[in-house]
This record gives sequence, C-alpha cells and structure tokens, in this order.
Amino acid sequence: MRMKVKDVETLDPVTVGPGANLESLAPPVTERGVVYVVSQTDELFGVITGSKLISALTSGYAKGVTAQDVMISADSFPSVDPDTDLHTAASFFESSCVPELPVVNNGVLVASLPQRSVLMAFSSTVASSKGNRYHEQRALAIVRSLHEGLIVIDKDFVIREFNPAAERLMKAKAADRIGQKAVVVSRDESPIFEVMKTGKARYNVITPLTDGRVFSVNYVPMIEDGEVQGIIETFHDITEQEELRAQLVNSRDELDRAFALTLPNSRVEHKLKHTPEYRDRYDPETGLITITEVIEDGSYKHVVNALKVLADLNSKGITSLLGINKDVLVQSIIFHDLGKSQPQLEIGQTVDPKKVFEYSPAHAARSADIAAHFYHKDQDVIWLIRYHHHKEDELPLDFPRHLMPMLRLFQLVDGLSAALTRRNASIKLDVEGTRVTVHERNGHPDFNRSRVVDLFTGETAVLNVD
Ligand SMILES: [Fe+2]
Ligand SMILES: [Fe+2]
Repeated sequence: MRMKVKDVETLDPVTVGPGANLESLAPPVTERGVVYVVSQTDELFGVITGSKLISALTSGYAKGVTAQDVMISADSFPSVDPDTDLHTAASFFESSCVPELPVVNNGVLVASLPQRSVLMAFSSTVASSKGNRYHEQRALAIVRSLHEGLIVIDKDFVIREFNPAAERLMKAKAADRIGQKAVVVSRDESPIFEVMKTGKARYNVITPLTDGRVFSVNYVPMIEDGEVQGIIETFHDITEQEELRAQLVNSRDELDRAFALTLPNSRVEHKLKHTPEYRDRYDPETGLITITEVIEDGSYKHVVNALKVLADLNSKGITSLLGINKDVLVQSIIFHDLGKSQPQLEIGQTVDPKKVFEYSPAHAARSADIAAHFYHKDQDVIWLIRYHHHKEDELPLDFPRHLMPMLRLFQLVDGLSAALTRRNASIKLDVEGTRVTVHERNGHPDFNRSRVVDLFTGETAVLNVD
C-alpha cells in the first residue's frame, strides 16, 4: 500500500499573525526554517522561509515591515493534505529547498510535514524492501533526490547510505564513504553512540562543525525485533540562521547598554524597571478590562520603544523641522512617566480601568516635578512632561505656543510606544514636510489603521483602513 502524509510523523506548525514584526520571527524561523502566517482561525495566508526572512532583514527592510509583507503567498507555495501520497510530497521537496511543507485541510493549516519524515519513510522502505528491487530502487531514488543530507549507519557504525545532499554538505564522495566507518566531525561528542545504545531518537541537535559551519541534525534509530540495527542521520546547514540569531541578540544587547548610558543614575533605571505595564482584553459592553499579561519592566520597555520610534522619525528628517529639538524630546521621553504609580494586578483579574488606574495628568505632573527639582531639566522638557496627557483644548493659557509641534510629536511617539509595548503592534511611519503618517497594524485586524497628523497645525485625518 502506498504511504500517505497522515501515515508519517508530522509536527505542530509554528504560526504567526499577519501583523507580526520581522524581528520576532527570527527565533522561530531559526529553529524550524519555516513559519506559517495564518488568520485567527488558522486559515493559511502564507509561508516565511529562512532565506526570505534573512534577505528582508539584511536589506534594511525591517522597520515597520510585518510578516504579511515578506511571506510567500499560500497560492504560490506547495502544500499537501493528510491524504496526499508521500511520493507527491517528495516531489515537492525535490523541487524546492524548504525543510517543511504545510499540511492543509480545507484551507486550514493542520500540521507541518518535515522533509526528514519523508526521508525516513523512504529510507526504511529501502531497508525493508529487500528482494523487491522495484520498491527499493524507487525509494532510493527519492532519498537521493532530496535536499536534506542523509547518512545511514549500521550497528557496527559502518556507513550504508550517503545521499548526494550529504555529499555536498559533507564535502565527501559517497563512493569513498559507503562501507567505511562513520567519522565524527562535530566539535562536541556526537549523540550517535547514545542513540545506538538507548534506541531513542534525538531531533534538531544543533551541531557546530570543526570548520565553523553549524548543522541541525536528527538521529533516528532503526529498530528491528526490539534491537537497534542502525541509525538514520538527517541534517541541513543552519549557519546562516545561526549568524542571524547571534546578530539579533547582539543588537538588542547593544541597544540596552546604549540606553542605560543615557539614564542619569541607577535610581531612574530601577524605577523604570520596576513599574509594570499590563496587557488586557477590553469588554466594550461593561467597560471592564481583564488582565492578560503583566510586563514587569513595562515602563522601561515603553521608554526604549519610544526612543526607537523617535530614532526612526529622526532618520526620516523630523528633527530638522523648525521647532523640533531632538535633545528636548529624548529627555522628555526618559522622564515622562517616572512619576507613574501603577496598581498591582494579576493575570485573569477583571477591573474597571477608571477606578484602578490613576488619572493620567496626575503622573504627568509628578514626573514634571521630579524632572525639575531632582534633575534640573530644561523648562521646555518640564512643560512637555507636565502636559503630555492633556488634550489641546485643555492646555493652560500660558502653555508656550512654540512647543505645540513638539507636544504633538511627543504625544504621537508616546501613543505609538504604548501600542508597541502593550498591543504588540507593528508600525510604519512616513514623514512629509510637517506631516507624519502612521500605519499601525495589530494582531487583531480591528485595530489596523492609518492616520496623518500635521505637527504645525494639529490637523489630523484618518486614512483608509488597510
Ligand atoms: Fe504618561
Ligand atoms: Fe508614556
């Protein structure tokens, strides 16, 4: 009987929403080589592969770009369903380099089929079809055509199969290797001995080679009559993904260190790192919110995100406008919420936000006093902090008019940072003269919106919902 997709081992697919930002995709893509973009009901929209993500991130395309901008649309990506013949699945793997294929049932993503499952299935066919030349040859042809490296080792550690992908990856000729003892090329001890002894498979073993490359390797025992007869080893090169992962971790650390340097002292850092922010679900009928996540260092993250938004706007020329002063904005961002007093809430708690959270202008006034009296900040900084939660028509008469463009910009940056910190939003900004256009995308499509603010006139407009 011919094998089908549902007869072999599949994996839980790693999924993200269309609005996920690119940096957040790096860890799952590094781990699995492929991530699926789905709707809230798991309808498959598209696929993001490692090479797609790497080229997006390295072309400086990352800011404000989300999963749906870089995905390969589901229509142009091969997929299988649970009843697809395994030969058909193998032919998809032959023609592309992807490590996994989506398993889709009526448009809904139900699982992920790794190339290694197909390799395993056909290599065990090779092993068990002794005498049936036709089956053996066919299975062998498939094993040899796939992109994932495969080596079969018998119980005496002698190599029995070495496919062309393994030749390419190991820079060795199958003819020279088959019939020879297996050699260990990893820097660490190979799990091969352990798998041979215990008969338990090991998957995705990250293996640094002596030549500097990094492979992800699977070791699956072939068991007959309860005894380990050998091991099927499948592997692929993940050096590029590993470098990307290291790069991302480094840039995050660098940013953190650079930011800490701008803080006046460790008390400011301590206050920011110990003032929580909350993620919640809002019920429009009761007006109540239910806490879904506690971000312990919420104020710190909020300030870092605000500085990132400002840096993005700076690179787009905003601080060359008359009346916009970069240093004043940076200082305002650092101090603006320092006077905040947050309630202690727990996940699952349902509360009335009007009752538990302090009236915002109160923390603004407190922050302004702290910045003025303990840190002797510039008058403009104090004005911006004190009124960062006031609407324009609520401002006192003596509010300096020359600060209006900066107050508008500051309130915009503050709001966008809150969206990044508390709603996991992704944001794309455009600057044209005195007008800033904001495209905001959240996990939930209802919050997707685009708007434009004129910093000089205060005029705002909502653009088409995209
Ligand atoms: Fe605030
Ligand atoms: Fe704030």
